Amino acid sequence: MDNRVLVAYATKYGATGEIAERIGQVLREAGLPTDVLPADRVSDLTPYQAVVLGSAVYIGKWRKEAVKFLQAHEEMLAERPVWLFSSGPAGEGDAVELMDGWRFPKGQQAIADRIQPRDIAVFHGHVNMDKMNFIERWMIKNVQSPVGDFRDWDAVTSWATAIADALKEAA
Ligand SMILES: Cc1cc2nc3c(=O)[nH]c(=O)nc-3n(C[C@H](O)[C@H](O)[C@H](O)COP(=O)(O)O)c2cc1C
Repeated sequence: MDNRVLVAYATKYGATGEIAERIGQVLREAGLPTDVLPADRVSDLTPYQAVVLGSAVYIGKWRKEAVKFLQAHEEMLAERPVWLFSSGPAGEGDAVELMDGWRFPKGQQAIADRIQPRDIAVFHGHVNMDKMNFIERWMIKNVQSPVGDFRDWDAVTSWATAIADALKEAA
């Protein structure tokens, strides 16, 4: 294990990848060497002292690449500081309130309990009608979801800054 940090993400249309990139940028600017990678491109956590994992949320679930990542690396994640984030809710106001208190998929709660993440954040997402398929557009209209880019870059930056501070304090 060296002092690298991994920011792994699972995205369908890119919005979560851009959040992961911003987190990586903040960590690097704080002097922490950081890799930002799609979750399905990571095979070994040995080089990493800490891991941030985030997924887009679709119909209350994380993307399967993020779920597989949790399952495959549970043991090593439990040995390292880990931060998790979900990204998805559209609309103005507090992201967790928009999700009615939801933070993380129930199906993976047992793994999260074993990993003991330092935090689980929820970030606003980008509902981009131009990228969606016909069925998704129909679903978004049906649930009358707000449409647009609601990502809160200040919230992402301050969360990442707190991660950098925690890791530097522990060093
Ligand atoms: C069919 C569909 C279902 C969605 N379901 C949810 C959901 O259950 N909860 C949520 O917060 N966001 C939901 N979203 C919004 C996405 O999570 C949001 O657009 C996110 O930013 C997409 O990230 P990505 O570009 O990384 O894939 C849904 C979007 C679509 C198109």
